[in-house]
Amino acid sequence: MTDLLRPRYHLMPEKNWMNDPNGAIYYNGEYHLFYQHNPHAAEWGDIHWGHAKSKDLVRWDHLPHALSPSAESGELHCYSGCAVLDGHVPKIFYTSVGSGARNAADGAEQWMAFSTDGMTTWEKAKTNPVLTAASHSPLDIREWRDPFVWKEDGLWYMVVGGSHEGKGCVLVHRSPDLAGWTYWTMLFRGDDPIFECPNFFRLGSKWVLIASPGDRVKHWAGEWNEDGTFTPEQEGIVDFGGWDGYYAPLTFLCPAGRRLMWGWLPEASRGSFAGITDWAGVMSLPRELILAEDGTLRFAPAEETKSLRALQLTPAGWTLESGLWRTGIRGRALEIAVSFRPSEACGRFGLKLLHSPSFEEESVLVFDCQNNRFSLDRAKSSLAEEPRRSAIEGDFVYAPGEDLQVRLFVDHSLVEVFVNESHCLTGRIYPLRADSDGVSVFAEQPGRVEISDFQAWELSME
Ligand code: FRU
Repeated sequence: MTDLLRPRYHLMPEKNWMNDPNGAIYYNGEYHLFYQHNPHAAEWGDIHWGHAKSKDLVRWDHLPHALSPSAESGELHCYSGCAVLDGHVPKIFYTSVGSGARNAADGAEQWMAFSTDGMTTWEKAKTNPVLTAASHSPLDIREWRDPFVWKEDGLWYMVVGGSHEGKGCVLVHRSPDLAGWTYWTMLFRGDDPIFECPNFFRLGSKWVLIASPGDRVKHWAGEWNEDGTFTPEQEGIVDFGGWDGYYAPLTFLCPAGRRLMWGWLPEASRGSFAGITDWAGVMSLPRELILAEDGTLRFAPAEETKSLRALQLTPAGWTLESGLWRTGIRGRALEIAVSFRPSEACGRFGLKLLHSPSFEEESVLVFDCQNNRFSLDRAKSSLAEEPRRSAIEGDFVYAPGEDLQVRLFVDHSLVEVFVNESHCLTGRIYPLRADSDGVSVFAEQPGRVEISDFQAWELSME
């Protein structure tokens, strides 16, 4: 079963549990990415930092754990965080969680670790903790965690997420040297109960905040004020997947100036499905973030993902029967790029993915341009009873007369979808049948939809 469901060209540990991406950094000509890992079980617990590196952002080598909980210091888990270069010395900032008073809700601390052997081993600083809750006293912050550090005009900044009086908040701290930190102010507070994994960075002419509110990840673009507070001008959803497909992303500034982002593709949709026992959690493909001229945030698969294209697949000639075109393309590790040109009164249309020949299993990507909505319909994604069947829904703005450009990635138990490079939807699905690997296009009456472009590739890391 695992073979049918384990992703092939997405980064994941060899086995056991993975959640958030951590500490992305470019070092000595290689990209390093860390992640929350439980080395002992395929469920959350005993959180270490897993470590992988890559020359091209898509093919990864696994390295030994970077961080393990220091039991002798009362540490139970090494929660999420970031990595920066202090001159030539790489430093990790992360949240240290212990038991009793040092629990995640009330007593987490921010810690630092550094490496002096080219990131093979990491040492926790003797001066830890770097920051305790006393830093923002008397402010009462719960779930204070996930430091994100960057340098701006010679000064270091750190944002940390949390919850203040039941509302998600992001605090900002400053340091001249990464050693001594002072709390500056509350950068932002929203209406969600919590903000995990805040990322704050300049993109084009604006500042962008991304935070994970325990549900679908949000982004805001706006101004960073002189007093350290953030005034958002626009708000949006990073990926409609939420717990069903995409959470806790981490962004990273590439040497060439691109802002890339990875997210964690959780397994909550599996429910009690017992067909997979030895792994849980997948890393998304890297996405590039761009601020468009109209001020909206755009997301596209990083250019490097094209190097996964092992074989271009030719679809069968176009024949529409009962509103269905069987493309003849089959596979569980695919990229598909399709441009739809809907007519004015067009009904719903889209793609059936990972479908068996007679559609006992199918995952259906549905576009409804009349209502500016799209969704991943999972009602028949799996013959297994346990996985979630709820549709994952998103909205977008369809500009009449324009092509709808869809780029998507199928990898065994996941689909990552990009619509017009502006709206993303990632979903987890668990098709059981070995022949659930078909790709078809469907269009409902009334109206017409033209396909102005259709390309597909088999993807492989080899
Ligand atoms: C987000 C998160 C973070 C935390 C980590 C623990 O998924 O809850 O806030 O640092 O996971 O594994």
